Amino acid sequence: MPPNDKVAVIGAGALGLMALKQFKEDGFDVTGFESRPYVGGLWKDSRDSTISVHASTVFNTSKFRAAISDFPFPESTDNFPTATQMHDYLCSYADHFDVKRHVKLNTKVKQILRENGQWILEVEDVTSGSVSTQRFDRVAIATGSYYAPRWPKLEGLEKFSGKAFHSIDFHTSESFKDQNLLLIGMHATALDTTTALSGIAKHVYLSHRHGLTLLPSYTPEGEPSDTVPGLGFLMVQSWLEANMPATWTWLFDKVLSRISNAAFPNTPDEWGFRPAPSIAVATPVMGDSVWPHLKSGFAEPVPGVKHITGPKTVELTNGRVLTDIDTIIYCTGYDFDIPEDLIPKTPSQENLYHPYPNGPRTNPYLYRNIFPLTSDETIRNTLAFIGHSATPYPGFVQFELACMAVSQIWVGNKSLPDLPTMKTWHATWTAQRAATIRKYNAPSDSTFYPALLPFAKYFPWMNEMAGTGLFETMGGKCNGMFNARTWELWWRDRELYDLMRNGILTPTVFRVFEMESGGRKALGWEEGKRRLRRDNEVYQKAVRARGRELGLDEDTGKPLKGGKAA
Ligand SMILES: Cc1cc2nc3c(=O)[nH]c(=O)nc-3n(C[C@H](O)[C@H](O)[C@H](O)COP(=O)(O)OP(=O)(O)OC[C@H]3O[C@@H](n4cnc5c(N)ncnc54)[C@H](O)[C@@H]3O)c2cc1C
Ligand SMILES: NC(=O)c1ccc[n+]([C@@H]2O[C@H](COP(=O)([O-])OP(=O)(O)OC[C@H]3O[C@@H](n4cnc5c(N)ncnc54)[C@H](OP(=O)(O)O)[C@@H]3O)[C@@H](O)[C@H]2O)c1
Ligand SMILES: *[C@@H]1O[C@H](CO)[C@@H](O)[C@H](O)[C@H]1NC(C)=O
Ligand SMILES: *[C@@H]1O[C@H](CO)[C@@H](O)[C@H](O)[C@H]1NC(C)=O
Repeated sequence: MPPNDKVAVIGAGALGLMALKQFKEDGFDVTGFESRPYVGGLWKDSRDSTISVHASTVFNTSKFRAAISDFPFPESTDNFPTATQMHDYLCSYADHFDVKRHVKLNTKVKQILRENGQWILEVEDVTSGSVSTQRFDRVAIATGSYYAPRWPKLEGLEKFSGKAFHSIDFHTSESFKDQNLLLIGMHATALDTTTALSGIAKHVYLSHRHGLTLLPSYTPEGEPSDTVPGLGFLMVQSWLEANMPATWTWLFDKVLSRISNAAFPNTPDEWGFRPAPSIAVATPVMGDSVWPHLKSGFAEPVPGVKHITGPKTVELTNGRVLTDIDTIIYCTGYDFDIPEDLIPKTPSQENLYHPYPNGPRTNPYLYRNIFPLTSDETIRNTLAFIGHSATPYPGFVQFELACMAVSQIWVGNKSLPDLPTMKTWHATWTAQRAATIRKYNAPSDSTFYPALLPFAKYFPWMNEMAGTGLFETMGGKCNGMFNARTWELWWRDRELYDLMRNGILTPTVFRVFEMESGGRKALGWEEGKRRLRRDNEVYQKAVRARGRELGLDEDTGKPLKGGKAA
């Protein structure tokens, strides 16, 4: 590698921090730029018009699966971390790996120019307003994928007399005391907003166009649901999904629907939850916190809006008229893009590369949703977009793996294929995506995240580029057979083998092995084993504690007489 190459990371949210840490670990000279006065990005409730969580947001996967691979959550963190705990975690991650001193806070990148084989960043000190330029060899853009709030047009909105605004501006509930609110959309934000309004507002209507799969955070035995699938499941998934995608989707939809029905039974037909869109084109959402409000009648799912007919009246697509609406909140999500300023330019201010040339609702024009598809090889190997690739897999580790992949490619341990191959990958995926949208009837303006890649299309590649050795050692080709690496592990360290195979699938598994062909820094077998043991102990302790709360028998996991769950 060119040692000490200067790398700029723009944005110091969760992804920017992981990128900075990874690049630094692999020997790059890193500088982070963050326009906010703090690191951690959207996980701190910002109270202004920049995107952030609500103070009451809870992370949607458990800390056992959501952690960064070499930085477990503190034991005191809730099983499902709160926004504050998540922000604290990200800050202590930055401290622990000594990343913070590389981040220039209150510093906004205003422009990215390509000149004489280097990247020139124009940065503004937002407190003083002074502007300066700095040169870098490589740039990673990690400014967050959610760019512009989506504001679907509601016909007749001008007749409405109440306030109508996007959830990005929803911070506190007090001003909605005793009001009836109409929330447009019924996904994570709408459900969180409902919970935040409960006990204050009078009634909440949740307007949605298609169904929804609600998932429970815990199994009836008190295990966080996302800890149930282990490494074996992952291997089967990657094989089935690659080889029999339709079967996989069918099976997974069935399983999720069954889990959902068992946890949230007897939902009235009028709520319109079923048939829920397929996992192929929609993401399920955690339902525990909203469920009591649905049951009590405080929150009422209703069909889409046809038009607004008066100062307080709204007609729905099924003809029903709501006559008492005080406020409308658009919980309609965001378009993916990067800020206009950050589209890399030539010295004569022409766009050098736009990752969304076909608009923000299409999949990005990037190899593996990360690398620019341009004829200039030096640009392909020095510019990365982080946060526009994602796959249904819990927590942060997938973003970390993406950062490892970029870093290993930049270091020279791995390489990108040639341009025609990368373009073919993109064209194939674009065609598959269009076919999926048709097959599963997703409407053209639906919330099918442009970043989302099928697991099998993305995860094994990332794993290989990062050089984690996980699939190679634990049977990733999923032929059901041991290979030489598996045998060696099984023979030489049965405990580690068992922890990997049968323990919970913690992010630590991505840090254990070393590959001869190169890869991110590994913990090694001994340290890996120690951490896996700890991960499993902490997990067991948490499950037992939850069991006691629920009044379950420690040995059988079944309800005890007199326990809450009985
Ligand atoms: C409300 C909400 C809840 C979510 N909940 C979950 C969840 O439960 N589970 C999950 O897995 N994911 C969740 N997500 C997804 C979330 O996007 C990721 O978890 C992750 O936090 C994104 O991190 P990021 O670093 O890409 O973006 P951000 O945290 O947005 O960080 C980007 C940073 O870039 C900075 N920046 C932008 N432009 C510039 C510039 N020009 N110069 C300098 N700095 C700049 C911004 O100030 C910001 O700090 C949620 C998202 C939202 C919006
Ligand atoms: N920790 C958490 O649990 C948490 C909390 C908040 C947000 N998040 C994350 O933050 C991101 C944004 O979430 P979000 O809930 O704000 O947005 P989202 O996931 O994009 O959902 C938007 C909702 O609005 C609906 N919608 C969009 N356009 C519409 C239109 N024209 N008319 C009617 N309905 C429309 C969508 O339904 P259609 O399917 O019909 O398009 C969907 O129900 C997501 O990645 C989410 O997972 C997570
Ligand atoms: C959690 O949030 C992420 C990012 O917003 C989303 O992609 C994922 O589908 C959500 N998972 C669940 C189980 O709700
Ligand atoms: C590249 O791979 C080699 C193993 O082939 C490894 O020793 C080295 O640490 C890797 N470089 C980096 C910076 O990850």
